[in-house]
Amino acid sequence: MKLLRINHLGIATPALAEAMERMSRLFDMGPEHTEEVAEQKVKTAFFPVGESTLEYLESTDPEGPIGKFLAKRGPGIHHVCFEVDDIDAAVAGLLAKGVRMIDQAPRKGAHGCRVAFLHPAETGGVLIELSQGMAH
Ligand code: CO
Repeated sequence: MKLLRINHLGIATPALAEAMERMSRLFDMGPEHTEEVAEQKVKTAFFPVGESTLEYLESTDPEGPIGKFLAKRGPGIHHVCFEVDDIDAAVAGLLAKGVRMIDQAPRKGAHGCRVAFLHPAETGGVLIELSQGMAH
């Protein structure tokens, strides 16, 4: 597996509109892309920051992963996303090493990319997402 870069940081927010207003007020920027990812029960807004991106995440369901995260830990950094060159090989390699994965196979993420999350028990408190194929 080759880690190419930190593709984005995922930030949980109770209200995407509030996060967008804040980015506009502080940094004079709007999102380059917004999208609802029904499978993950989230609405997302992406803000490019140099070679990386901030992904703001609002939950559409209190029982979804971001809804549960917000209830337990409040707003803030939810995950770090490593861009990989071959996500199928990356997931297969981790599973072969006995690493617990939330996703046993890559699934659809925002931006048409394919993603897979490691189980947080494996990652020392920082949730890690692997991603391949996000358009820039
Ligand atoms: Co993400």
